[in-house]
Parts: sequence; structure tokens; C-alpha cells
Amino acid sequence: MLIGGEAVDSAETLEVEDPATGRRIAEVALAGPEHVTRAVASARATFDDGEWRWLSSAARSRLLLSIAQTVERHAEELAQLDALDAGLPISMARAYLTASIESVEYAAGIPARIAGETLPPASMRGDQFQAQVLREPLGVVGLIVPWNTPVSTAIDKVALGLATGNTVVLKPAEQTPLSALRLGELLLEAGLPPGVLNIVPGLGAVAGAALVEDPQIDKISFTGSTVTGKRIIAAAAANLTPVSLELGGKSPNVVFADADLDAAIEAAATNAFFLSGQVCTEPSRMFVQRPAYDEFLSGLCAAAEAFPVGSPLDPATLAGPLVSRAQRERVLGYIESGRREGAVVASGGTAIDGPGYYIAPTVLTGTTPDMTVEREEVFGPVVSVTPFDTIDEVIARANDTTYGLAAGVWTNDLRIAQRMTRELQAGNVWVNCFNLYDAALPFGGYKQSGWGRESGAAAIELYTQTKTVAAATLPPRPLVSPTQTTVANPSPTPNEVTQP
Ligand code: NAI
Ligand code: MG
Repeated sequence: MLIGGEAVDSAETLEVEDPATGRRIAEVALAGPEHVTRAVASARATFDDGEWRWLSSAARSRLLLSIAQTVERHAEELAQLDALDAGLPISMARAYLTASIESVEYAAGIPARIAGETLPPASMRGDQFQAQVLREPLGVVGLIVPWNTPVSTAIDKVALGLATGNTVVLKPAEQTPLSALRLGELLLEAGLPPGVLNIVPGLGAVAGAALVEDPQIDKISFTGSTVTGKRIIAAAAANLTPVSLELGGKSPNVVFADADLDAAIEAAATNAFFLSGQVCTEPSRMFVQRPAYDEFLSGLCAAAEAFPVGSPLDPATLAGPLVSRAQRERVLGYIESGRREGAVVASGGTAIDGPGYYIAPTVLTGTTPDMTVEREEVFGPVVSVTPFDTIDEVIARANDTTYGLAAGVWTNDLRIAQRMTRELQAGNVWVNCFNLYDAALPFGGYKQSGWGRESGAAAIELYTQTKTVAAATLPPRPLVSPTQTTVANPSPTPNEVTQP
């Protein structure tokens, strides 16, 4: 693990598994609570020391650009680590890294944008004050990330934490520690001072919990399941540690009959099944207007059957294995519960034979809003398709969920698009596209999909706090000077130019 710029070992180890083969490929040091305490102390000392938080904005930007370049030089290596460790298809791993390099470049522009305010003079009981609002880093930020796109989620969070002047402790998911550890080495190489970034690969319930409970932590930024998010809030309550959360989803994707159906079907299949559905925004509930329903369903099923499922190292693959045996069991359990509760499997529905934790892309029909598979986040290659008749009906159905991360709308009718984008209860709404991300755009969830918006300018607020400063001033005096008092009727001197 990485503490205070040093590679630190542990008596206990964490086994690293390749989910495409089920083979053990590495062992890393397992962080226990004592390591988390040390990592937080290192981040605390580095923050309190002052050099890091007082770094000029130019120097901070330069460092972030150096990080972007270093990550870019090693992007292929990081992509391969995630392909091996998480089963992330290599082409997708590369695409996520490209986006994360852009996020770091965007973050390099943040230091220059962190500004306070000078306000009109304040007064209290007749005395005058000059008021200022300073924007300052929070201090030590704990970053807890999941296993679906391991290194890019880590990079995005680390970049925001550093751009805003905080020091950080990163806890990767226990299923996927490798790329985060390599990232730590690379950032030191890029010039990051020791202690600014500390990395503790450990179990969620042990190292993750220790990080959240540490009284020296000033904020937790978490991406993962809603269940764990709730647990983190409960634990953070002890110290009133602020928490921002990017949680799960059950995103609706609504296709109107007037839409470009070919484009809608292609995007539906790609976004439902890439990464085997282990994506928080997965359009897992498809609603299709009745005249287009049959064509959409048969198109989606055909795309599901032809979907490039395979080895994560094959560049043609878009869906690799589930991250672990436990995740595969969990997803198969959801498919089974759907069957039991009356859903029909229109495509897939089974594990794929062989080593590795694969599941065939799965399409369900006949689901109702009360079914478990329709209510809970499956986080696997499983979607339902449901017909609808009217816009009112589909708005109610799309919003009938405790989640609110994302939603898609497919139509060529501007009026339908306008109404839908207003009515859908989701932090991200995509019209005639899906999964459009950009470092400049805020990303986050309504309802139980999260707290806060973790990109774009919104991130500045999430990683900083303001301090209001009021300083007493001398009371105001009239600005009239003694010489000006005689200017009322000036007698022009000979060499003065008289205005017309
Ligand atoms: P998880 O949400 O428990 O894990 C995410 C991260 O949180 C990991 O780093 C884990 O070590 C950490 N963690 C776990 N318990 C913690 C605790 N008590 N305190 C602090 N940190 C803790 O997800 P898990 O269990 O790996 O996957 C289960 C389900 O969660 C999936 O099937 C999926 O439905 C959902 N999930 C959703 C994600 C999303 O982005 N929407 C990402 C990962 C999982
Ligand atoms: Mg692994």
C-alpha cells in the first residue's frame, strides 16, 4: 500500500483474482484499521504542514497536467491491469482512461477558478466592516471507489481532491486493487509530494469502515451501492463528517414510436450490456411506445444474442465476465427471482459455461413495477422491456423507482423531448443518446442515487468550504478635500485649456 510516499507491506495479504479465468494472479498487502490510521495521519500531517495547501494555483495546475501526461504515457498498462483484475474489456478500459485523462486536464483548470468574494461593506450597530468570503480546501478527504471501472473512478476523484488543495486517502475495492496501487507509483513519478495521496487496499467492512470513522477525516467521497452508501452516512454521523455519494440506479430508457428506431436499438443494446451491465447508469428499464414495441424487442434480442461477450483482452469484446463469482451468483439470483415472479426471459437468462464468471446478455418482458428485478439494481447484463401507450403513463412508470441517477429519451418530437426532460426525476437525462459524460458536466443522482454532483464546476463546492471574514474598518468620511472646496468657481489660469 502507499503511505507517506512509501510502499508499505502488511502481515496479511489480499488475493487478486482474474474473473475471466477464476485464477489467482497476484497478492497485495491488505490494509487493516492500523494502516488506515497511519495513512490518514500521513495525509493529515501533509495537509497541516501547509506547503501543499498554500501551493500557488499555477504550480497546482502544472502538477495536474504532469499527472495527466504521466497517466497518458502509462494508459495501456493501467488499462491492462483493469482488464486482468476487473474483467473490464480492454477497448472499454482504454476509452475510460481517455476520458479520465481529460478529467485530469479539466481539473488542471480548477485551481485558477477557485475564488472567494468581496462583499459590500457590512455594518452592525453603526460600526462598519469589510467582508470577504474565502474558499478553502476541506483538509483530508477519504475516497472510496468500486470495482466496475477501477482506475478511472480513482483518477477522477483523486484529481478533484488535489485540484481543490486537499490531501487524500484512496481505498480501492477489494476485488480490484492493482491499478490503484500502480496509479500511486505513477503520481509520485509525476511529481506529487509524498503524503498527498495515500492508498489503502482493504476490505470495505474493515478498511473502508475505519476510513469513514477516522476523526481526522474531513470528508468522504463514495461511489458504490446504495446499501453501502447508507451505511457510510450512518457511520459518518458520529463525527458529522460530510459525505458525497454516487450510488446505484435503475435508469429508465424511454423510446417513443416516432424515434429513429435503429439508433435507439443499437444504443439500448450497447449501454445495457457493455461491461456486462456493471455500470451505475445502465438503462435497465426500457419503455417502448406500443407501435414500436415488437420491432424494438426483436432488435434488442438480436443484438443481445450477437453481443461481443468474450475475453477482456480481446479488443472486439464489449462485455467481459462479472467481477467475481459472488456477483455472478447475485445476478443469476435476480434473473431467477424475475422468473419466479412471472417475468418472461426473451433472450439469455443463463450463465455462460467455462471458466470465468460470464452471464449471457439477458432481456426480460412481462415485468411489473412490484417485481424485485424491476425495483433493485441488478448490476449485471439484465434489462426489462415494457410497452406503453401515453406520455403520462410512461412518465409515471419511469419515475416509479427509489433511484434517480439517469434516464434516456428517444423521440424526434421536440415537444415530447421538452416535457420528458422536465418530468424525469434523474440527475442526468440523455435525449437521443445515452451515457454522455464530460468532465465539464455535473454528474450525480436524484433520490437514492446520491448526494452532490461530482464533476464540472459543481465539484469545486463539493471539495471546498467557505470562510467568512469580517474586518472592522475606520468609519467613512466625506471624500471632499480642502483644495476641492475652492473649485466651485475656478478662475481660469492663462495656460489652462477651457472646455467648450
Ligand atoms: P459496495 O458498494 O459495497 O462497494 C463499493 C466500495 O465500498 C468498495 O471499495 C468497498 O470496499 C467499500 N465498502 C463496502 N462496505 C463499506 C463500509 N461499510 N464502509 C466503507 N466502505 C465500504 O459494493 P459491492 O458489495 O462490491 O457490490 C454489491 C452491489 O453493489 C452490486 O451488485 C451493485 O448492485 C452495487 N454496486 C453499485 C455500484 C455503482 O456504481 N452503482 C458500484 C459497485 C457496486
Ligand atoms: Mg480481481
